[in-house]
Amino acid sequence: MAEGDAAQWADEPLEERHPDLLAHTVRPYNAEPPNRALKEMFTPEGLHYRRQHTPVPVIDEQTYSFSVGFEGEEPRCFSMSQLRGVYREHEVAVTLMCTGNRRSEFNTDDDGETMGLPWKNGSISTARWYGALLSDVLKDAGIDREDAEAKGYNFLTLWGQESYHISIPLRKAFAKDGDCTLVWKMNGVALPRDHGFPLRAIIPGFVGARSVKWLDRIVVTKTEVDGMHQKGIAYKQLAPNQKLLSKVTKEHIYELPPVDHVPITSAITAPEPGTVVSRGDTLTIAGYAYSGAGHAVIRVDVSIDGGRSWEQAEITRASEVQRVRSRRAWAWVQWRLSATVPENSSGNLTIVCKAVDDEYNQQPHETSPIWNLRGILNTSWGRVHIEVGEMANAAKSGDGSLENVGVRLKGTFQCAECRQLFDTEVAKNTHWKFIHAKTGLTCLEE
Ligand code: MTE
Repeated sequence: MAEGDAAQWADEPLEERHPDLLAHTVRPYNAEPPNRALKEMFTPEGLHYRRQHTPVPVIDEQTYSFSVGFEGEEPRCFSMSQLRGVYREHEVAVTLMCTGNRRSEFNTDDDGETMGLPWKNGSISTARWYGALLSDVLKDAGIDREDAEAKGYNFLTLWGQESYHISIPLRKAFAKDGDCTLVWKMNGVALPRDHGFPLRAIIPGFVGARSVKWLDRIVVTKTEVDGMHQKGIAYKQLAPNQKLLSKVTKEHIYELPPVDHVPITSAITAPEPGTVVSRGDTLTIAGYAYSGAGHAVIRVDVSIDGGRSWEQAEITRASEVQRVRSRRAWAWVQWRLSATVPENSSGNLTIVCKAVDDEYNQQPHETSPIWNLRGILNTSWGRVHIEVGEMANAAKSGDGSLENVGVRLKGTFQCAECRQLFDTEVAKNTHWKFIHAKTGLTCLEE
């Protein structure tokens, strides 16, 4: 929806939005967290990424209800008190990822621009979600999977109150251990409005687009619903040579399956691009890795020389349930590796990472062969360029670590550029030279 009339944006939940979110559009609000938040297993409050297409609906929980039923038949309605009163609260840790995550890396002079928001590596986040199992609610609405499938009903179409709509396979909704949940709590507290208050679907292992917020109705349908988020271009990956939408027929787009699951992917969240390090420094490299469809990440390979030599990172999982071959690994893993900047390195270092899941799926090396007009599923190796310089210890951060460069808070001498504090004038000037000066020594020496 275009920005339009200011009045329709008057009730946006501004207080829920952390000031550190990087907003790609404000109306509607589409924003991603910084790397410091992506380094946490559970994304800190207010920092989960947001993806919406309209103003956030204003919904009164007391009068709210949603319906469930077969296409063309009278549905059953549920209120929030019926849901909370009847169903056991199911808890599940799930990573949501927008298929456009890392789209910005596709946009190069050689390959061209893609369509969509230029997400960096942060349109992905993880939370603990709580609510009723979708399969239980469907059964209570009189829907039996085998019966429905025998009559040719293979999909559930989910509608949001602002009319966003998508379909998921009926078999996913009913899958034993599929963990599809209608949730009213996120990380132990009421669902924030940005994330779907009072009720949203969480469809684990599927792309974020299938987890419909501000749920209005669930309809059992024979075919997938029409519309841009299901049959249309939004979740269709074209070939790298298909550069113009005008050359692609609607029939071709409709024949392609929509992306259900994210293939194995990973990204580097530390160090920040452009960090200056010295030879011999110990560097903490960190990131996340995720695979859709419940596949568990079994390995993350990291290289600090652009992929010539590799080491394996230490992996942490979101929960014990999400183990290898459980088929319920719905959340990312966080990974970490300590590496030493080689004494013989000069100029730039390219750090890369690649993950492997329990089906031995691996990531493509580069963006070019998987470039696609819609800019979805950039699952290429995570990549960060850093610089090897002659940074003196005095110019490093408060605790002397490279990881915390840029956050020194104690000292007498303040940098005019970033307001950090240093113990000596020399330290402050050296910091300025390496962090802020683009052209070397001239300014300081004059
Ligand atoms: N549900 C509704 N009703 N409207 C939307 O715009 N966006 C979808 C999905 N559910 C959307 C929605 C998309 S594209 C994504 S990636 C996720 O919600 C994002 O969820 P979040 O904003 O809670 O992170």
